[in-house]
Amino acid sequence: MNDTIIGFIGCGEVATVHATLLAELPGAALGPLYDPDPRRAELLKERCGGELAASAEEVIARAEAIYVTSPNRTHVGYALAALEAGRHVFCEKPFALNLAEAEKVRAAAERSGKVYQLGFNRRFAPAYAAMKSMIANGELTPRSFNIKMNRGELQHPAWTSDATVTGGFLFESTLHLFDMVRFLFGEVAEVQAVGRKGLYPCVDSFSLLLTMESGVHGVFSSCAHASWHFPFERVEIYGDHATVQNDEMESVSWCLGLAQPTELRRFGTLPHADRWGFRTEDTLFLRRIQGQRDDRICQVATAVDGWRNVEFIERVYALVGLGR
Ligand SMILES: NC(=O)c1ccc[n+]([C@@H]2O[C@H](COP(=O)([O-])OP(=O)(O)OC[C@H]3O[C@@H](n4cnc5c(N)ncnc54)[C@H](O)[C@@H]3O)[C@@H](O)[C@H]2O)c1
Repeated sequence: MNDTIIGFIGCGEVATVHATLLAELPGAALGPLYDPDPRRAELLKERCGGELAASAEEVIARAEAIYVTSPNRTHVGYALAALEAGRHVFCEKPFALNLAEAEKVRAAAERSGKVYQLGFNRRFAPAYAAMKSMIANGELTPRSFNIKMNRGELQHPAWTSDATVTGGFLFESTLHLFDMVRFLFGEVAEVQAVGRKGLYPCVDSFSLLLTMESGVHGVFSSCAHASWHFPFERVEIYGDHATVQNDEMESVSWCLGLAQPTELRRFGTLPHADRWGFRTEDTLFLRRIQGQRDDRICQVATAVDGWRNVEFIERVYALVGLGR
């Protein structure tokens, strides 16, 4: 089989993570790279290979699969153009910034028959993969959960507090754990939400009470000004005299019964791309395009996941009632 030619629209930080991995993957060939700041595209080419392109349209015309790794607001336009041109698409989160856009992309992905994958790398981080498999193989049956997803500040870069650029704080890293809630526990049935504008012009702290369709329930909090106290991200899942929890993507620990030991697995020695799940998600994207089998393919985030995550965020903002 020929190598799949992969192009990039947006050549910043996260593009560099993906392109570095793809450059090492058999079956992938880096192709056209576009960034409105030509220095970013040149730097990516120097590091990883590929060729410079003069526009996003050129990337879509010349590549078979497109990585959309540009800022949030641009994702929908590029993803739609690529799907309509019959290209496979890997799009970084967020999928879209409102429900109308989300529905358009979901419909275009379904119509195209091409691979569409969203960048929810945490699904493949070993800390979260361990939780997922404990639930799947019945070692722990979730009854309830307690989740936090904080940020230290919205100052670096300054636009992170500007909802007209980000779509709102919930579309930033909080979105990763909204996706994780659905990945681990299924669909959300009911949500109650409180949010406040505290230090920043956007709604910058949230407390949610969630009931899942499965009956599992839990609390979820997200604060944008928590300091970078470790861990900024944690999922605790409670079962029958059992708990599993993580500390960001550094470790996972569990106790599966009364009078049982607490066990701990640490991932700090793994390369970042493995610890955060990026290598697996890029590998699976390529396998999907090339029609190769892999048991983990059913765990990738699809356009339906993207649409449901946006629907969930819209519900939360509507309940809070303060805009974004
Ligand atoms: N999955 C993850 O863990 C993860 C991590 C980081 C970023 N992201 C997402 O990836 C996207 C990019 O984030 P980043 O950290 O790489 O940002 P970045 O600022 O480092 O890179 C973005 C690049 O896009 C370019 N750009 C700006 N406007 C553009 C346009 N109209 N068309 C094409 N390119 C344009 C910029 O010049 C820049 O080089 C964001 O949407 C972000 O939410 C996801």
